[in-house]
Amino acid sequence: MYLQRRNRILRQSPAIRAMVAETILTPSNFIVPLFIDEGSGIKTEIPSMPGIYRMSLDNTVKEVKELWNMGLKSVLLFIKCKDELKDNKGTEALNPQGLMQRSIRAIKDAWPDMLVMTDVALDPFSSYGHDGIVEGSEIVNDATVEVLAQMSVSHAEAGADFVAPSDMMDGRIGAIRAALEGNNFTKTGIMSYSAKYASSFYGPFRDALDSAPGFGDKKTYQMDYANRREAIRETLMDIEEGADIVMVKPALAYLDIIREVKDNVDVPVSAYNISGEYAMIKAAAKMGWLNEDKAILETLTAIKRAGADLIATYFAKDAVRLIS
Ligand code: PBG
Repeated sequence: MYLQRRNRILRQSPAIRAMVAETILTPSNFIVPLFIDEGSGIKTEIPSMPGIYRMSLDNTVKEVKELWNMGLKSVLLFIKCKDELKDNKGTEALNPQGLMQRSIRAIKDAWPDMLVMTDVALDPFSSYGHDGIVEGSEIVNDATVEVLAQMSVSHAEAGADFVAPSDMMDGRIGAIRAALEGNNFTKTGIMSYSAKYASSFYGPFRDALDSAPGFGDKKTYQMDYANRREAIRETLMDIEEGADIVMVKPALAYLDIIREVKDNVDVPVSAYNISGEYAMIKAAAKMGWLNEDKAILETLTAIKRAGADLIATYFAKDAVRLIS
């Protein structure tokens, strides 16, 4: 057989495949989500997220050092708020001595180079488990945005490098930027969850923080998964309002959105490989139905290939082990 062109030439050995690989995962592109709890000496595995732990601050600081030594350079903090501190106004979210604020300070004290990103939304602090203030059966926008802006300033005061609003209220990026500017936090970045969909894949995360909505769902603020153009509108508005990094979330069922956002913006794009995506691979691997290590690398590479510059993922440590 005479062929002018044989595509298999570039696939014939590991060396050639590595030489021509278009997408390469690197540790500095990963963002590591951390779940922080009160107390000391605590390291509790989350049942629906095997291998992921809710840790007290002492153990979290140790973990951060380990992450840094592995080449991982950013963490995204989530805290588990005690039930008795939850209310409808996010009071505890603004407490300068709150667990989030103490965690930011402790991590930056122990390891100043580690980039600390913080979740900005009311759900862990809300007696209703919603991302905003509830009036009647409504999650009200404008009053929530005010609290989110104050919360962002409080995180910046504690030393956060980036605040990461995950709430999907309208106008919050502009309000947060104005509040940061107004308080002279001119070096604090905003990583906006700009296209965040109402997803069934957040289930395990809500177990981890005990933050499931007490009534209804999040469909009046998080996006409808039927929509694509809306993601572009949301993202462009967030950039105009001052977002430094934009995010698509979830990742796996939304690779088309990641690509489309990537093609439409000139800021770094991140994607959140969320809890349910983690749990699915873990569960299938446990059953012996797929090879976990291979599935992890394939998944993360696909997310990056789709256009994500950064990936928030519970697989970060596994991935570093696998690529090194
Ligand atoms: C809360 C928040 C959620 C996640 C990150 N921030 C859950 C939600 O919106 O209900 C999900 C992360 C994951 O599932 O891994 N605003």
